[in-house]
Amino acid sequence: MEKEIYFAGGCFWGVEHFFKGVHGVTDVRCGYANGIPDNPSYEEVYTDKTGHAETVRVRYNDERISLQELTRLFFATIDPSLLNRQGHDEGTRYRTGVFYTSEDDAAVLRQEFARQEELLHQEMPEAAMQTELLPLSKFFPAEEYHHDYLDKNPGGYCHLDFKVFVYLQLYQDLKALLEGETDSVARMSEAAALIAERMKFFWTGFYRVIGRELVLGPFQGPAACLRIGFGRGVCGTSWKQARTIVVPDVEEFPGHIACSSLSRSEIVVPLFDADGKVTAVLDIDSTSVGTFDRTDASFLRLIADLV
Ligand code: SME
Repeated sequence: MEKEIYFAGGCFWGVEHFFKGVHGVTDVRCGYANGIPDNPSYEEVYTDKTGHAETVRVRYNDERISLQELTRLFFATIDPSLLNRQGHDEGTRYRTGVFYTSEDDAAVLRQEFARQEELLHQEMPEAAMQTELLPLSKFFPAEEYHHDYLDKNPGGYCHLDFKVFVYLQLYQDLKALLEGETDSVARMSEAAALIAERMKFFWTGFYRVIGRELVLGPFQGPAACLRIGFGRGVCGTSWKQARTIVVPDVEEFPGHIACSSLSRSEIVVPLFDADGKVTAVLDIDSTSVGTFDRTDASFLRLIADLV
């Protein structure tokens, strides 16, 4: 069935471009939502006095993609801790929000927002979620030149980090490749290979929980430590705390285990079973300091959930 949902995620040019690449999305339209005047112009909205938010209407086939998955992808493109700001853009028109048109959707979204708040709290304990969850009150399509803006203007302004588009492709390709495969080692091997190929990280691999240790699993990159204890290093800490850990500089992480002296920054994302128990971790290392941010954390969370 065709359904629709409205995402305000900052400048609508990039948000539209992102959702056009999502499999199962049938139509995307830039517009202005949830403000006061009807049929506002871009110039009026730009004054920041209309109350409208730059918003994209996303129509999708719910047999191909769920509202939950769309919302997770949306959250991977925004910083929900920012009020009236995304990227370099500031103003109430750039606030973030999900605007729904049915109570069934609201229930799904409330659940997903609770999960996103928990993830945000793990990442930044003092931050508050600024993303609105509201019924859609109004939506007016934007002027024609805003539609397909980044296709018409390649290299044009986009507040999104280019890597969101690379990650989206990676995520969707991996999802297609893993379809029907039940063996966990095969799934991890495919994921490690695809992440390494697309993202060109120094070391990408999995450690599996076996008893009280993490044991090296499928990986791409130089030879690495075979076993890591519970609570040891970044990997063991991610397992113990059951959360993603981003380490901007490995020298500042007490207890970091240096499998290679070339590793300068790291991200570790836990994999969970259906009961919420950690079964493995996805560990990625970079030879530069500060490689990983919330975009990596969000997309690697989505990828870990696939595996
Ligand atoms: N640095 C990791 C150990 C694994 S290697 O990076 C491949 C840690 O501290 O847990």
